[in-house]
Amino acid sequence: MAVLASALFGSPTAFSQQELMVDMSKTIAPIQPTMYGIFFEDINFAADGGLYAELIKNRSFEFTIPMMGWSQPNSDRHSYNNESGFAMPVKYFEGEGNLNFIRVQVKNAGGYELHNEGFRGMGIKEGNTYRFTFDAKQMEGAISAVNAFLLDEEGNTIAEVSVPVSGSEWKNYTVEIVPNKTVMKGSLKLTFDGTGELGLDMVSLFPTDTWNGRENGLRKDLVQLLNDLDPGFLRFPGGCIVEGRTLARRYQWKKTVGPVEERPSLVNRWNTEFDHRLTPDYYQSFGLGFFEYFQLSEDMGAEPLPILSCGIACQFNTGELVPMDELEPYVQDALDLIEFANGSTDTPWGKVRADMGHPEPFNMKYIGVGNEQWGPEYIERYKVFNQAISEKYPDIIIVSGSGPFPDGDYFEYGMKELKEIGAEIIDEHYYRSPEWFKENATRYDSYDRNGPKIFAGEYAAQSVAIASPDNKNNWDTALAEAAFMTGLERNAEVVQLTSYAPLMAHAEGWQWTPDMIWFNNLESYGTPNYYVQKLYSTNKGTDLISVTQDGKNLVGQDELYASATLDSKAGEVIVKVVNTSSDAQEVSLNFKGKKLKGKGKVLVLKEENLSQENSFESQKEISPVTEEIKVKGTTAMYEASPYSLNVIRIPIK
Ligand code: AHR
Repeated sequence: MAVLASALFGSPTAFSQQELMVDMSKTIAPIQPTMYGIFFEDINFAADGGLYAELIKNRSFEFTIPMMGWSQPNSDRHSYNNESGFAMPVKYFEGEGNLNFIRVQVKNAGGYELHNEGFRGMGIKEGNTYRFTFDAKQMEGAISAVNAFLLDEEGNTIAEVSVPVSGSEWKNYTVEIVPNKTVMKGSLKLTFDGTGELGLDMVSLFPTDTWNGRENGLRKDLVQLLNDLDPGFLRFPGGCIVEGRTLARRYQWKKTVGPVEERPSLVNRWNTEFDHRLTPDYYQSFGLGFFEYFQLSEDMGAEPLPILSCGIACQFNTGELVPMDELEPYVQDALDLIEFANGSTDTPWGKVRADMGHPEPFNMKYIGVGNEQWGPEYIERYKVFNQAISEKYPDIIIVSGSGPFPDGDYFEYGMKELKEIGAEIIDEHYYRSPEWFKENATRYDSYDRNGPKIFAGEYAAQSVAIASPDNKNNWDTALAEAAFMTGLERNAEVVQLTSYAPLMAHAEGWQWTPDMIWFNNLESYGTPNYYVQKLYSTNKGTDLISVTQDGKNLVGQDELYASATLDSKAGEVIVKVVNTSSDAQEVSLNFKGKKLKGKGKVLVLKEENLSQENSFESQKEISPVTEEIKVKGTTAMYEASPYSLNVIRIPIK
């Protein structure tokens, strides 16, 4: 019962006292460990230039313009460069893999320089160790050393090392280098001792301080933010990137495993997608490939959830179709992936995994067929995958998709068809306004409990319009998502996986906004949307219970939303209350079915300015604070601040 209670707080504002009933006497459904997970896509420099810690852009000269990212400030392509020298790309291999190297011709050792600009510069930290590696062979004359300099923004040297080179065969050279200054936009300069011609390839600069200290590893601060979410799953590698603008440019997992230097590069699908955010230097090196995604999932205790091309290129682009009678290699890719992830080491793909250092299976349980496809063309192809995968691997759960929108012709069509096929889990996507999110807190209340399970695979409130460059990760969007998420949780019987999208964006290299995590070359921070996700994910509990007002779910009455779970491991009841009104609201929580201890805690995210964002300067402007809550008998009183998400945890006696 809502009672006017302005007098109670001595304020002229009328606000309500809300009486909520939390019924702990029976559980409704288990909360799946996969309930809150991560959607990863290489968009916004999320992989190369982001999570993947390599600092050299175009390290093996494989971009369409092979010298992109490199410059030769003292050279002129229209002259003999007798006072310096000149490097030219050499294509030495037809087919796929490492196609190019450069031939560095040095005519005057004192004059020639080769620079790499990094990904909008290189983030370099004072006192940290960096591994500088390259492949080289002497081709002519006597170039006897490669000298590497790390430079600050003004071009001053902050670290240097000289590496002697010899021999006409390709050799790998590795040295460590420690800079004496921290810079956000550093760069690499190479000079050479002697004159002649040197072949150079796979020029790499990696911090040794990566996540778990791995070579070819991941940026530690970014993985830390992901790991702190305690994600139930990691979906990879996207997104539209799975599909490609054309079929030829789809994501092919087999090309992303094995020795890093042999993985062929590919232009990133987001390279020229948006005219307002052209990023022509955005490529995929696949240094972060499928093995590394599985490893990351394992590190975080998250279920790996790979999504594969179903034989349709992105329908927002070309929508190219593989003819049905040529679909077999695509299906085989899916079957082989299951073998790569789970097969014994005496299977061909299990052996590839073992050779990469992981003989134990990754225990993959899910596989996604197609990202965001729609129409009969998708259903037709999905059926072929469905049959082949379930025949060979009946225990693998296949994730299908309902297209890019949460409603409309193609959504209805896809859902109907997939239900008829008996699809296990359907991926829904929604990029909508904050209002839509609040209004749709009841979206899943009417979903068939015996139908397919739902993966809310991509969602984010858009403050302006879908993918508008003006969208903000502000509190308005995050609060609307928090309200909506009570509806995801309340329907845990049906909704079993959920993830915000996109995940990450480089402050200068982004294409799509909003994004959950923003980073530059040195720092990273979680947006308010990140903290909403984190509060849900780290307080999901184990079993759904009901929280009602006058026997009804709380889905926006007086701008309040709520969901509740039990955490049988921690022995606590968890109630999430979202107040989207500008008024504080007095909430009386009445508990039924179990006895509670006298006090608990409330994790609160609140902000009175809905436009407020987090930033590099104020990274935790909006972040959770912990308050105390007292329980008297079966009742706990709590004041939900204006515009707040409140996660109430009370120990059970
Ligand atoms: O998250 C960004 C994009 O949005 C994804 O790549 C795609 O699946 C969706 O359209």
